[in-house]
Amino acid sequence: MFYRFIVRLMITLCSVAALHVGAASLEAQVKDCEGCHGPDGVSQCPDMPTIAGVSIASHEEAMFAYLDGLRPCEKSDYRHGDTSRAATDMCTVAKALSEDDIAALAEYFADKKFVAMKQTTDAGKAKAGEAVHEAECKLCHSDGGSNPEDDAGILAGQPMGYLKKAFKEYRSETREQPKKMKSKIDALSDEDIDALVHFYASQQ
Ligand code: HEC
Ligand code: HEC
Repeated sequence: MFYRFIVRLMITLCSVAALHVGAASLEAQVKDCEGCHGPDGVSQCPDMPTIAGVSIASHEEAMFAYLDGLRPCEKSDYRHGDTSRAATDMCTVAKALSEDDIAALAEYFADKKFVAMKQTTDAGKAKAGEAVHEAECKLCHSDGGSNPEDDAGILAGQPMGYLKKAFKEYRSETREQPKKMKSKIDALSDEDIDALVHFYASQQ
């Protein structure tokens, strides 16, 4: 924990310099991210999370989770830009980055605007999901799960396919989650989860 704190401190101190010194390579790295996550990090695909507008802390936490093997890494094709590149996964992507790179990329995408994906949802399920959210989740995911300042990702407007996958990983305990969230997630029924997915996806 303490080691990680020191590393974080160093990342914070180095990130400003990294943005200037590594400007050309940051641009190339951003292009690579956009090849999957979409222009400016706004997803165009149901299985791909939007990384625009997510807080720096939350973005870095995700990258460290991939590096530490605390999140599963599924292979994905490139869908934008140079689509001839071979499929890869987030563990491989994260391993190729220095800690300065991770900090600079987190800062870059945190500055971009989160755009909710337009998707078809069931109004009844969304309403039921909102009730579950208000009772169990809003303490850490405020404003319907749309507030980046919670440092808990952005749920509102994320693609449904990605949300479903995140729940599946939490339920099967292949993705680490905060202890207090785990007890809430474990207590949900499959219907609750379906309803929550519709609620988060319904927000524009
Ligand atoms: C080959 C496709 C691909 C590339 C390239 C890629 N990603 Fe990803 N990324 C994904 C997929 C797929 C996921 C969701 C995986 C999962 O289910 O955890 C993801 C997840 C993430 C997450 C976690 C999002 C969340 O809401 O928890 C972050 C942060 C992220 N990527 C950042 C980046 C950055 C920064 C780059 C560029 C350096 C990048 N990605 C390049 C496919 C890609
Ligand atoms: C104690 C605080 C806390 C509570 C309560 C909580 N969460 Fe979370 N949640 C977090 C944090 C922190 C993260 C980011 C960590 C991670 O990526 O695993 C997160 C991440 C998530 C993600 C993945 C976001 C992404 O970008 O991949 C989903 C989905 C989610 N929570 C759903 C819920 C739901 C549904 C509830 C209520 C049943 C809930 N959470 C309750 C703190 C909480």
